[in-house]
Amino acid sequence: RPQPLLAPSILSADFARLAESLQVLGDRCVVHVDVMDGRFVPNLTLGMPVVAALRKETRLPLDCHLMIVEPSKYALEFVKAGADWVSIHQEADPHAHRTLTAIREAGAKAGIVLNPGTPVETLTDLVGVFDFVLLMSVNPGFGGQSFIPRVLDKVRRLDALRREREADFFIQVDGGVGPGNAGALVAAGADVLVAGNAVFKAPDPRAAIAGLLKAMDA
Ligand code: DX5
Ligand code: ZN
Repeated sequence: RPQPLLAPSILSADFARLAESLQVLGDRCVVHVDVMDGRFVPNLTLGMPVVAALRKETRLPLDCHLMIVEPSKYALEFVKAGADWVSIHQEADPHAHRTLTAIREAGAKAGIVLNPGTPVETLTDLVGVFDFVLLMSVNPGFGGQSFIPRVLDKVRRLDALRREREADFFIQVDGGVGPGNAGALVAAGADVLVAGNAVFKAPDPRAAIAGLLKAMDA
């Protein structure tokens, strides 16, 4: 099993100093970019121009989490802007199969995201079409919310599905992740952990990243 990765979420960083925020990330990091449209979730963040600007500032993978309605309209624009990973919510797209396929054909890794209330069993007929699954461990919209512990069981069930089907997708978890639950999430089968406040609201983000990676490796 490859070493688990950390995906610091720039939603919790200083939006006027994004380039500086990227400087603290190391080679086991991917840059988690939360795109919100004020419709799928009750918050607005950023779009393709910001992703294109980030692309010039880092060689780390850009992981764009689209919390938007009709993600099929914009997914490929994010790939064009420089996204390496693009994830769409299953709840937002009745044609997720088509959109995931298009993201892959455009050359990016395609992810499917499940809200806390959406069971992992709804993915069985999409196995093979996505490169990763993002399990939300908070209701999407804001950083700094508390982790929903039931998601640990979803990670285990998804890991079991992956073994049963001999599939090679990776599992990402997003929301309320910190040093207190990172080890348990990796033990349950998670491969990539998103962390917003635990990194960028820490007094020393570099030390926070080191601490999280240590907890993930324990
Ligand atoms: C929530 C976003 C998350 C958020 C995580 O809607 O998808 O990526 O930035 O922030 P924390 O780690 O603070 O819960
Ligand atoms: Zn996110």
